[in-house]
Amino acid sequence: MNDDDDIRRISRVEEKWSSSAEVYAVGGFKVFWEALEIASAYQMEAAFGSTPWLESIMSRIPDPAEGPTLRALSLGCSNGETAPANEFARTGRFREVTVVDISQDLLVTQKELTDRLGLGEILRYHRMDLEQDSLDSESTFDLIFAVGTLHHIRGLERLFAEINKSLTPAGLFFMREYVGPDRLQFTDRQIEIATAVRRALPERLCTDLKGQLCRDAWRPTFEEVVADDPSEAIRSSDLLAIANRFLAVEEVRMTGGSLLDPLLHGIAGHFEDDATGRKILPLLIAFEKILIREDVLPSDYVLLTARRRKDDKHGWSPPMWCRRLLRAES
Ligand SMILES: C[S@@+](CC[C@H](N)C(=O)[O-])C[C@H]1O[C@@H](n2cnc3c(N)ncnc32)[C@H](O)[C@@H]1O
Repeated sequence: MNDDDDIRRISRVEEKWSSSAEVYAVGGFKVFWEALEIASAYQMEAAFGSTPWLESIMSRIPDPAEGPTLRALSLGCSNGETAPANEFARTGRFREVTVVDISQDLLVTQKELTDRLGLGEILRYHRMDLEQDSLDSESTFDLIFAVGTLHHIRGLERLFAEINKSLTPAGLFFMREYVGPDRLQFTDRQIEIATAVRRALPERLCTDLKGQLCRDAWRPTFEEVVADDPSEAIRSSDLLAIANRFLAVEEVRMTGGSLLDPLLHGIAGHFEDDATGRKILPLLIAFEKILIREDVLPSDYVLLTARRRKDDKHGWSPPMWCRRLLRAES
């Protein structure tokens, strides 16, 4: 990538993510499947079972001393009061939670919010381009996490090597990420199933914000994806294999999305706003679970937890569906 391309990438990514809440809901209408409360609860259950997510993560972080002793790093900044970084800050166990993101406007808005919430002592915000800037920290963080950021990164090898170095010896890494087809080029099978479902739905549930009836499932062209966000899903399909190469992966939980993402994109809001839509959504979730469990579709979203790598041993037995990806790397 030359300098001009890089300048264009940075300015477009910064602009697009200056308010991530508006990307997920346009003018209050939810367009993205993960923004739906029921879908989000389904993902949380798939990732953490019946234990609340914060409790589940905190129970895996060693905390030898009393009081706020821990340090965390958030790769990417979430919008809003319940951002994961805020929840960690509220536990009283962290002396510092550093949040890095490329989008300066997002960082400023979030900092203003968390200062108002009284979390300003703990939360620190730094603008960082994870493609270029180094984490530059040795054995520093008890927790490093990313929610939806790493599938925007091309230079995954360098970044994961730095994450590994930056964890304390007993530190924990987790990512909740999209690991599906690069540039959102969903497979023909995904599109075939999602389109069949759309065609069976009442018209009003398949109508987008512009009032257009969208019977075909969503699969943007490569060019549309890059024009909208040059970092979008740039190497998403490599993420699991690279994480497994640089870190000691403990577990990968399949959190779905391979049907719901192309099926609900652009029309998701109807499955909260409309009474029939609300009834149908749990059935669509059940259908997706079956498709993933029976290996008809892979899981495009995962929760991965890992530790610092101490040797060359892989501690993790990958489930069948991601062995194919891992073989490509090793
Ligand atoms: C899909 S959003 C996820 C944001 C947030 N974690 C959430 O849950 O809403 C992707 C985030 O990655 C950030 N990002 C993209 N490329 C980046 C880069 N090269 N360096 C740092 N952050 C980047 C964007 O600014 C954006 O905040």
